[in-house]
Amino acid sequence: MPDDMEMGDERTVLLTRDLSVRFPVRRGPGSRVTGHVRAVEGVNLRIERRETLGLVGESGCGKTTLGSSVLRPRDEATGQVLYRSADGRVLDVTALRGEDLATYRREVRMVFQDPHASLNPRLTLLEIIGEPLRVLLGLSGTELEDRAAEMLRRVGLRPGHLRRYPHAFSGGERQRVSIARTLVPGPRLVVADEAVSALDVSVRSQILNLLQDLQDELGLTYLFISHDLSVVQHLCDRVAVMYLGRIVELSGTDELYARPRHPYTEALISAVPVPDPRRRGSRERIRLAGDVPDPADPPAGCPFHTRCRYATERCVTEEPPLREVAPGRLVACHHAEDLRLAGAG
Ligand SMILES: Nc1ncnc2c1ncn2[C@@H]1O[C@H](COP(=O)(O)OP(=O)(O)OP(=O)(O)O)[C@@H](O)[C@H]1O
Ligand code: SF4
Ligand SMILES: [Mg+2]
Repeated sequence: MPDDMEMGDERTVLLTRDLSVRFPVRRGPGSRVTGHVRAVEGVNLRIERRETLGLVGESGCGKTTLGSSVLRPRDEATGQVLYRSADGRVLDVTALRGEDLATYRREVRMVFQDPHASLNPRLTLLEIIGEPLRVLLGLSGTELEDRAAEMLRRVGLRPGHLRRYPHAFSGGERQRVSIARTLVPGPRLVVADEAVSALDVSVRSQILNLLQDLQDELGLTYLFISHDLSVVQHLCDRVAVMYLGRIVELSGTDELYARPRHPYTEALISAVPVPDPRRRGSRERIRLAGDVPDPADPPAGCPFHTRCRYATERCVTEEPPLREVAPGRLVACHHAEDLRLAGAG
């Protein structure tokens, strides 16, 4: 195995190295390329077996683009995405083909956001859940039906529902069907992009509990993407915070919420509603100045400096690298050691 395919520790399931994704911006006559949207910039992520890694940040910060670059090779991406398959081999996701691509499609799968849009209304649950079994595992007949029925039971629906169509089910039930389809071929790594965002609050916690139970039962690893910090807090072991395509903070969930180290994380946490009404007045909501800058023309220096209330002269000219400020805590801020930022506690 060449050196650049080295993933280190056996526990590592997925590793991105200096992953960037840039989309061309076309304008004017002849649709000339006038610039690039830097959707993902130099991301280094390591996901460990059976963990849930959260990915948070405002709309447009690059979460979906990062998640989709993990799921499949894409032309706009540079850098590396490495995956350790069930049989212990390291696959380079950017160069997948043939048998390796088939393995990857089976082992790394996605839960979609909107169960209304992602389920074909003309197909029965058997056809919906059976499709990956047919396409990825080559199953058919009673074997396929038994596997689909078993999966339906695992997600809390009755196997007797296999002949019904999606419209017969509620939003929460449809998301269970969608999860069944994702998990039925036996993936190891699951990317969930806003998997509960389209659901009513009352149904949300049931689906989150289901995802957690399935993780334990099936030994799954999750990359869990959400703009909602309270959702991430309850599910994730570690959280990565994104801003303008970059990871600006990464740490264990409890430490991150109790004591954020990056001013952007502090602002995001301050916007999470406090459940206890007696403590509601005690926390300051930090309103970020201005809009998110244009990702095709990000600010020089620290990309967050145009909105950061702690910015200094150094921040305007010098970009802070993502660095370890305490064991397991990565922060991209020049002043991480000096700032006393407010957490959720
Ligand atoms: N196919 C594409 N072509 C051009 N630009 C794109 C494409 N996909 C995403 N972008 C741009 O890349 C940036 C990141 O988008 P992305 O969808 O990854 O953000 P996100 O964090 O998932 O946002 P949201 O929370 O709204 O889902 C945005 O500026 C978006 O407009
Ligand atoms: S480096 Fe400066 S501008 Fe960037 S987050 Fe830290 S204090 Fe704010
Ligand atoms: Mg998205």
